Amino acid sequence: MKNPRMILHLAMGVALTATTLGVAAEELLKFDYWPGRENAIPHVSGDEKFSDTYQYWKDEKAIEQAKKAGKKSHEMNFKDFRWAQKSFDAEPALEIGKGYYNQKNANGKSCASCHGENGKKLEGIYANYPSYNKRLKRVVTVGTQIQTCASERLGLDWPETSRENVLTDFYVASLSDGKVIKIDATKPGPIKKSYERGRDLFFKRAGHFDFACASCHTPPTAGSYLRGQRPTTFFGDAASYPIYHFPYALPGDDYEYVFTLQHQIKSCQMLSRMYPGKEGSPAMTDIEVFLKASANGYKMSIPGAEYNMDASYLD
Ligand code: HEC
Ligand code: HEC
Repeated sequence: MKNPRMILHLAMGVALTATTLGVAAEELLKFDYWPGRENAIPHVSGDEKFSDTYQYWKDEKAIEQAKKAGKKSHEMNFKDFRWAQKSFDAEPALEIGKGYYNQKNANGKSCASCHGENGKKLEGIYANYPSYNKRLKRVVTVGTQIQTCASERLGLDWPETSRENVLTDFYVASLSDGKVIKIDATKPGPIKKSYERGRDLFFKRAGHFDFACASCHTPPTAGSYLRGQRPTTFFGDAASYPIYHFPYALPGDDYEYVFTLQHQIKSCQMLSRMYPGKEGSPAMTDIEVFLKASANGYKMSIPGAEYNMDASYLD
Protein backbone atom coordinates (compact mmCIF):
# COMPACT_ATOMS: atom_id res chain seq x y z
CA MET A 1 0.00 0.00 0.00
CA LYS A 2 1.52 3.28 -1.12
CA ASN A 3 0.13 5.69 1.41
CA PRO A 4 1.31 4.90 4.92
CA ARG A 5 -1.42 7.04 6.39
CA MET A 6 -4.00 4.85 4.77
CA ILE A 7 -2.58 1.95 6.71
CA LEU A 8 -3.12 3.92 9.85
CA HIS A 9 -6.64 4.87 8.89
CA LEU A 10 -7.47 1.30 8.01
CA ALA A 11 -5.95 0.09 11.22
CA MET A 12 -8.19 2.42 13.11
CA GLY A 13 -11.14 1.47 10.98
CA VAL A 14 -11.03 -2.15 12.00
CA ALA A 15 -10.44 -1.10 15.57
CA LEU A 16 -6.99 -2.56 15.72
CA THR A 17 -4.30 -0.57 17.39
CA ALA A 18 -1.02 -0.19 15.60
CA THR A 19 0.61 -2.19 18.34
CA THR A 20 -1.50 -5.25 17.68
CA LEU A 21 -0.29 -5.11 14.07
CA GLY A 22 3.19 -5.45 15.41
CA VAL A 23 4.19 -1.93 14.29
CA ALA A 24 4.98 0.77 16.79
CA ALA A 25 2.37 3.55 16.61
CA GLU A 26 5.24 6.03 16.43
CA GLU A 27 6.49 4.39 13.26
CA LEU A 28 3.18 5.02 11.56
CA LEU A 29 2.65 8.50 12.89
CA LYS A 30 5.97 9.77 11.68
CA PHE A 31 4.55 9.61 8.16
CA ASP A 32 2.44 12.58 9.16
CA TYR A 33 5.55 14.60 8.44
CA TRP A 34 7.37 15.03 5.19
CA PRO A 35 11.07 14.27 5.72
CA GLY A 36 13.63 17.04 6.26
CA ARG A 37 12.43 18.97 9.30
CA GLU A 38 15.66 18.25 11.14
CA ASN A 39 17.67 19.98 8.40
CA ALA A 40 15.76 23.23 8.57
CA ILE A 41 17.74 26.05 10.17
CA PRO A 42 16.75 29.70 10.60
CA HIS A 43 19.18 31.08 8.02
CA VAL A 44 19.07 31.37 4.24
CA SER A 45 22.25 29.24 3.93
CA GLY A 46 20.20 26.31 5.24
CA ASP A 47 19.26 25.79 1.61
CA GLU A 48 22.58 23.98 1.09
CA LYS A 49 21.13 20.92 2.79
CA PHE A 50 18.06 21.00 0.56
CA SER A 51 18.77 22.08 -3.00
CA ASP A 52 22.51 22.68 -3.14
CA THR A 53 21.90 25.78 -5.26
CA TYR A 54 22.57 28.42 -2.61
CA GLN A 55 26.02 29.05 -4.04
CA TYR A 56 24.37 30.43 -7.20
CA TRP A 57 21.95 32.87 -5.60
CA LYS A 58 23.36 33.80 -2.20
CA ASP A 59 23.96 37.41 -3.25
CA GLU A 60 23.97 39.71 -6.28
CA LYS A 61 27.50 38.75 -7.24
CA ALA A 62 26.82 35.03 -7.12
CA ILE A 63 23.70 35.49 -9.24
CA GLU A 64 25.61 37.50 -11.80
CA GLN A 65 28.42 34.96 -12.00
CA ALA A 66 26.08 32.00 -12.29
CA LYS A 67 24.19 33.71 -15.09
CA LYS A 68 27.43 34.51 -16.88
CA ALA A 69 28.46 30.88 -16.54
CA GLY A 70 25.25 29.98 -18.37
CA LYS A 71 23.26 28.54 -15.48
CA LYS A 72 19.62 28.13 -16.33
CA SER A 73 16.90 29.31 -13.98
CA HIS A 74 15.90 25.82 -12.95
CA GLU A 75 19.51 25.02 -12.08
CA MET A 76 19.42 28.02 -9.76
CA ASN A 77 16.24 26.99 -7.98
CA PHE A 78 14.53 29.84 -9.88
CA LYS A 79 16.04 32.45 -7.58
CA ASP A 80 18.16 34.16 -10.20
CA PHE A 81 16.06 37.20 -10.94
CA ARG A 82 14.19 37.68 -7.74
CA TRP A 83 15.92 40.47 -6.09
CA ALA A 84 18.16 42.11 -8.61
CA GLN A 85 15.10 43.26 -10.50
CA LYS A 86 12.45 45.66 -9.36
CA SER A 87 8.91 45.83 -10.54
CA PHE A 88 8.19 49.39 -11.52
CA ASP A 89 4.70 48.11 -12.27
CA ALA A 90 4.20 48.06 -8.52
CA GLU A 91 4.80 51.78 -8.02
CA PRO A 92 1.13 52.78 -8.33
CA ALA A 93 0.18 50.16 -5.71
CA LEU A 94 2.85 51.59 -3.38
CA GLU A 95 1.46 55.08 -3.91
CA ILE A 96 -2.01 53.88 -2.91
CA GLY A 97 -0.49 52.35 0.23
CA LYS A 98 1.25 55.59 1.05
CA GLY A 99 -2.06 57.38 0.58
CA TYR A 100 -3.66 55.13 3.21
CA TYR A 101 -0.72 55.74 5.53
CA ASN A 102 -1.34 59.50 5.32
CA GLN A 103 -5.14 59.30 5.28
CA LYS A 104 -6.57 61.38 8.11
CA ASN A 105 -9.39 60.08 10.28
CA ALA A 106 -12.25 62.25 11.60
CA ASN A 107 -9.91 63.72 14.24
CA GLY A 108 -7.29 64.66 11.70
CA LYS A 109 -4.91 61.85 12.78
CA SER A 110 -3.16 59.37 10.54
CA CYS A 111 -0.44 56.70 10.81
CA ALA A 112 2.01 59.50 10.01
CA SER A 113 0.97 61.40 13.17
CA CYS A 114 2.78 58.77 15.26
CA HIS A 115 5.18 57.06 12.87
CA GLY A 116 6.47 60.09 11.04
CA GLU A 117 6.25 61.64 7.64
CA ASN A 118 7.18 59.20 4.88
CA GLY A 119 7.15 56.42 7.46
CA LYS A 120 10.40 57.70 8.97
CA LYS A 121 10.07 55.72 12.21
CA LEU A 122 9.08 52.49 10.49
CA GLU A 123 12.18 52.32 8.31
CA GLY A 124 13.86 48.91 8.49
CA ILE A 125 11.36 47.30 10.87
CA TYR A 126 9.86 44.91 8.29
CA ALA A 127 13.12 42.93 8.22
CA ASN A 128 12.53 42.00 11.88
CA TYR A 129 8.89 40.93 11.56
CA PRO A 130 6.95 38.92 12.70
CA SER A 131 7.88 40.11 16.15
CA TYR A 132 6.65 39.64 19.71
CA ASN A 133 4.28 42.40 20.85
CA LYS A 134 4.57 42.62 24.63
CA ARG A 135 1.33 44.50 25.03
CA LEU A 136 -0.71 42.01 23.00
CA LYS A 137 1.35 39.13 24.45
CA ARG A 138 1.65 37.42 21.10
CA VAL A 139 3.77 37.22 17.99
CA VAL A 140 2.36 39.52 15.32
CA THR A 141 2.83 40.11 11.62
CA VAL A 142 3.03 43.69 10.40
CA GLY A 143 -0.52 43.23 9.12
CA THR A 144 -1.75 42.36 12.61
CA GLN A 145 0.10 45.36 14.02
CA ILE A 146 -1.47 47.65 11.41
CA GLN A 147 -4.92 46.28 12.20
CA THR A 148 -4.30 46.93 15.92
CA CYS A 149 -2.99 50.46 15.43
CA ALA A 150 -5.80 51.32 13.01
CA SER A 151 -8.55 50.16 15.33
CA GLU A 152 -7.12 51.17 18.73
CA ARG A 153 -5.49 54.43 17.73
CA LEU A 154 -7.40 55.73 14.76
CA GLY A 155 -10.80 54.08 15.15
CA LEU A 156 -10.50 52.52 11.70
CA ASP A 157 -11.61 49.03 10.75
CA TRP A 158 -8.69 47.71 8.71
CA PRO A 159 -8.71 43.91 9.12
CA GLU A 160 -5.71 42.06 7.74
CA THR A 161 -7.50 41.09 4.58
CA SER A 162 -8.74 44.60 3.83
CA ARG A 163 -7.42 46.59 0.91
CA GLU A 164 -6.25 49.40 3.23
CA ASN A 165 -4.29 47.01 5.44
CA VAL A 166 -2.61 45.07 2.60
CA LEU A 167 -1.56 48.14 0.64
CA THR A 168 -0.32 49.99 3.76
CA ASP A 169 1.60 46.82 4.63
CA PHE A 170 3.19 46.88 1.17
CA TYR A 171 4.18 50.53 1.66
CA VAL A 172 5.62 49.87 5.13
CA ALA A 173 7.58 46.89 3.72
CA SER A 174 9.09 49.12 1.01
CA LEU A 175 10.65 51.21 3.80
CA SER A 176 12.84 48.18 4.56
CA ASP A 177 14.02 47.57 1.01
CA GLY A 178 17.63 46.36 1.07
CA LYS A 179 17.63 45.68 4.79
CA VAL A 180 19.02 42.30 5.87
CA ILE A 181 16.42 40.03 7.45
CA LYS A 182 16.97 39.10 11.07
CA ILE A 183 14.49 37.08 13.06
CA ASP A 184 16.06 35.68 16.20
CA ALA A 185 14.73 32.14 16.26
CA THR A 186 17.59 30.67 18.29
CA LYS A 187 17.26 32.57 21.56
CA PRO A 188 14.76 30.81 23.87
CA GLY A 189 11.49 32.73 23.85
CA PRO A 190 8.25 33.23 21.94
CA ILE A 191 9.88 33.71 18.52
CA LYS A 192 11.87 30.49 18.77
CA LYS A 193 8.74 28.62 19.81
CA SER A 194 6.80 30.19 16.98
CA TYR A 195 9.52 29.25 14.47
CA GLU A 196 9.46 25.63 15.65
CA ARG A 197 5.68 25.39 15.46
CA GLY A 198 5.75 27.00 12.01
CA ARG A 199 8.43 24.57 10.83
CA ASP A 200 6.40 21.62 12.06
CA LEU A 201 3.31 22.92 10.28
CA PHE A 202 5.32 23.38 7.09
CA PHE A 203 6.42 19.75 7.12
CA LYS A 204 3.09 18.34 8.30
CA ARG A 205 0.83 16.63 5.84
CA ALA A 206 -2.71 17.88 5.67
CA GLY A 207 -5.76 18.19 3.48
CA HIS A 208 -7.39 16.32 0.68
CA PHE A 209 -4.14 15.40 -1.11
CA ASP A 210 -2.21 14.66 2.07
CA PHE A 211 0.53 17.08 0.98
CA ALA A 212 2.75 19.07 3.28
CA CYS A 213 3.99 22.49 2.23
CA ALA A 214 7.35 20.73 2.08
CA SER A 215 6.07 18.19 -0.47
CA CYS A 216 6.26 20.90 -3.11
CA HIS A 217 8.83 23.24 -1.59
CA THR A 218 11.67 20.76 -1.14
CA PRO A 219 13.43 18.74 -3.87
CA PRO A 220 12.69 16.93 -6.07
CA THR A 221 9.47 18.92 -6.58
CA ALA A 222 11.07 22.26 -5.81
CA GLY A 223 12.97 23.41 -8.84
CA SER A 224 10.80 21.48 -11.28
CA TYR A 225 7.68 22.54 -13.03
CA LEU A 226 4.35 21.97 -11.49
CA ARG A 227 1.42 22.71 -13.73
CA GLY A 228 3.34 25.51 -15.45
CA GLN A 229 4.45 27.01 -12.13
CA ARG A 230 7.69 26.63 -10.30
CA PRO A 231 7.81 26.10 -6.57
CA THR A 232 11.22 26.77 -5.08
CA THR A 233 12.79 25.78 -1.79
CA PHE A 234 11.49 27.76 1.17
CA PHE A 235 14.75 29.64 1.82
CA GLY A 236 15.03 33.32 0.95
CA ASP A 237 11.65 33.76 -0.73
CA ALA A 238 10.09 35.69 2.15
CA ALA A 239 12.55 38.51 1.36
CA SER A 240 10.39 39.73 -1.50
CA TYR A 241 7.05 39.65 0.34
CA PRO A 242 4.63 41.38 0.07
CA ILE A 243 5.12 40.75 -3.62
CA TYR A 244 3.59 42.41 -6.63
CA HIS A 245 1.97 39.42 -8.26
CA PHE A 246 0.48 40.73 -11.51
CA PRO A 247 -1.52 39.27 -13.20
CA TYR A 248 -2.45 36.76 -10.49
CA ALA A 249 -5.02 37.31 -7.80
CA LEU A 250 -7.45 35.10 -5.89
CA PRO A 251 -11.14 35.55 -6.63
CA GLY A 252 -12.44 38.52 -4.65
CA ASP A 253 -9.01 40.12 -4.10
CA ASP A 254 -8.96 43.88 -4.08
CA TYR A 255 -5.27 44.44 -3.42
CA GLU A 256 -3.88 45.72 -6.74
CA TYR A 257 -2.19 42.29 -7.22
CA VAL A 258 -0.22 42.60 -4.01
CA PHE A 259 0.26 39.34 -2.10
CA THR A 260 1.34 39.50 1.52
CA LEU A 261 3.12 36.40 2.80
CA GLN A 262 -0.07 35.51 4.68
CA HIS A 263 -1.99 35.69 1.43
CA GLN A 264 0.59 33.56 -0.38
CA ILE A 265 0.40 30.91 2.33
CA LYS A 266 -3.39 30.87 2.07
CA SER A 267 -3.21 30.69 -1.70
CA CYS A 268 -0.92 27.63 -1.47
CA GLN A 269 -3.22 26.00 1.09
CA MET A 270 -6.12 26.39 -1.28
CA LEU A 271 -4.08 25.12 -4.24
CA SER A 272 -3.11 22.03 -2.31
CA ARG A 273 -6.60 21.54 -0.87
CA MET A 274 -5.74 22.15 2.73
CA TYR A 275 -8.26 23.98 4.82
CA PRO A 276 -7.13 27.61 4.41
CA GLY A 277 -6.06 29.35 7.61
CA LYS A 278 -7.26 32.76 8.69
CA GLU A 279 -4.70 35.39 7.77
CA GLY A 280 -2.96 36.66 10.90
CA SER A 281 -4.09 33.72 13.07
CA PRO A 282 -1.49 32.30 15.48
CA ALA A 283 -0.83 29.23 13.29
CA MET A 284 -0.55 31.27 10.08
CA THR A 285 1.77 33.70 11.89
CA ASP A 286 3.93 30.74 12.96
CA ILE A 287 4.29 29.66 9.33
CA GLU A 288 5.29 33.22 8.43
CA VAL A 289 7.90 33.26 11.21
CA PHE A 290 9.31 30.01 9.85
CA LEU A 291 9.49 31.33 6.28
CA LYS A 292 10.87 34.72 7.26
CA ALA A 293 13.54 33.22 9.53
CA SER A 294 14.47 30.90 6.64
CA ALA A 295 15.40 34.13 4.83
CA ASN A 296 17.64 35.36 7.67
CA GLY A 297 20.77 36.95 6.24
CA TYR A 298 19.09 37.78 2.92
CA LYS A 299 18.18 41.29 1.81
CA MET A 300 14.60 42.47 1.59
CA SER A 301 13.57 43.36 -1.96
CA ILE A 302 10.39 45.39 -2.11
CA PRO A 303 8.81 45.88 -4.57
CA GLY A 304 9.84 42.73 -6.34
CA ALA A 305 7.90 40.68 -8.79
CA GLU A 306 7.71 37.02 -9.58
CA TYR A 307 6.18 37.38 -12.98
CA ASN A 308 6.85 39.19 -16.21
CA MET A 309 10.24 40.38 -15.11
CA ASP A 310 12.59 38.13 -16.97
CA ALA A 311 11.19 35.77 -19.55
CA SER A 312 14.21 33.49 -19.11
CA TYR A 313 12.69 32.15 -15.91
CA LEU A 314 10.91 29.64 -18.06
CA ASP A 315 14.24 28.05 -19.02
C1 HEC B 1 -1.49 57.32 18.33
C2 HEC B 1 -0.25 56.81 17.84
C3 HEC B 1 -0.28 55.72 16.76
C4 HEC B 1 -0.96 55.74 15.57
C5 HEC B 1 -1.92 56.77 15.04
C6 HEC B 1 -0.54 54.55 14.87
N1 HEC B 1 0.34 53.83 15.61
FE1 HEC B 1 1.40 52.24 15.02
N2 HEC B 1 2.25 52.08 16.84
C7 HEC B 1 2.00 52.93 17.92
C8 HEC B 1 2.64 52.36 19.10
C9 HEC B 1 2.60 52.97 20.49
C10 HEC B 1 3.30 51.18 18.70
C11 HEC B 1 4.08 50.17 19.60
C12 HEC B 1 3.42 48.80 19.64
C13 HEC B 1 2.05 48.74 20.27
O1 HEC B 1 1.85 49.29 21.35
O2 HEC B 1 1.13 48.14 19.67
C14 HEC B 1 3.05 51.07 17.27
C15 HEC B 1 3.59 50.06 16.48
C16 HEC B 1 3.49 50.03 15.10
C17 HEC B 1 4.27 49.18 14.24
C18 HEC B 1 5.41 48.27 14.67
C19 HEC B 1 6.62 49.17 14.88
C20 HEC B 1 7.87 48.52 15.40
O3 HEC B 1 8.84 49.24 15.61
O4 HEC B 1 7.89 47.31 15.63
C21 HEC B 1 3.81 49.38 12.97
C22 HEC B 1 4.31 48.70 11.70
C23 HEC B 1 2.76 50.34 13.03
N3 HEC B 1 2.59 50.72 14.33
C24 HEC B 1 2.02 50.79 11.95
C25 HEC B 1 1.00 51.72 12.05
C26 HEC B 1 0.16 52.10 10.94
C27 HEC B 1 0.28 51.56 9.52
C28 HEC B 1 -0.72 53.02 11.41
C29 HEC B 1 -1.87 53.64 10.69
C30 HEC B 1 -2.94 52.73 10.36
C31 HEC B 1 -0.39 53.26 12.81
N4 HEC B 1 0.63 52.42 13.17
C32 HEC B 1 -1.00 54.19 13.62
C33 HEC B 1 1.31 54.09 17.85
C34 HEC B 1 0.52 54.50 16.79
C1 HEC C 1 0.97 21.34 -4.58
C2 HEC C 1 2.23 21.98 -4.41
C3 HEC C 1 2.35 23.07 -3.36
C4 HEC C 1 2.08 22.95 -2.02
C5 HEC C 1 1.60 21.73 -1.27
C6 HEC C 1 2.40 24.23 -1.45
N1 HEC C 1 2.85 25.08 -2.40
FE1 HEC C 1 3.61 26.95 -2.08
N2 HEC C 1 3.87 27.16 -4.08
C7 HEC C 1 3.58 26.21 -5.04
C8 HEC C 1 3.84 26.77 -6.35
C9 HEC C 1 3.62 26.04 -7.68
C10 HEC C 1 4.31 28.08 -6.14
C11 HEC C 1 4.74 29.08 -7.18
C12 HEC C 1 3.59 29.92 -7.50
C13 HEC C 1 4.07 31.14 -8.06
O1 HEC C 1 4.94 31.12 -8.92
O2 HEC C 1 3.57 32.15 -7.61
C14 HEC C 1 4.32 28.29 -4.70
C15 HEC C 1 4.75 29.46 -4.09
C16 HEC C 1 4.92 29.62 -2.74
C17 HEC C 1 5.58 30.73 -2.10
C18 HEC C 1 6.21 31.90 -2.82
C19 HEC C 1 7.64 31.68 -3.11
C20 HEC C 1 7.87 30.73 -4.22
O3 HEC C 1 8.42 29.66 -3.94
O4 HEC C 1 7.51 31.02 -5.35
C21 HEC C 1 5.52 30.53 -0.76
C22 HEC C 1 6.11 31.41 0.33
C23 HEC C 1 4.80 29.29 -0.55
N3 HEC C 1 4.47 28.75 -1.77
C24 HEC C 1 4.51 28.74 0.68
C25 HEC C 1 3.78 27.57 0.86
C26 HEC C 1 3.29 27.10 2.14
C27 HEC C 1 3.50 27.80 3.46
C28 HEC C 1 2.64 25.94 1.90
C29 HEC C 1 1.87 25.08 2.89
C30 HEC C 1 0.75 25.71 3.51
C31 HEC C 1 2.74 25.66 0.49
N4 HEC C 1 3.41 26.68 -0.11
C32 HEC C 1 2.26 24.52 -0.11
C33 HEC C 1 3.17 24.94 -4.82
C34 HEC C 1 2.82 24.42 -3.59
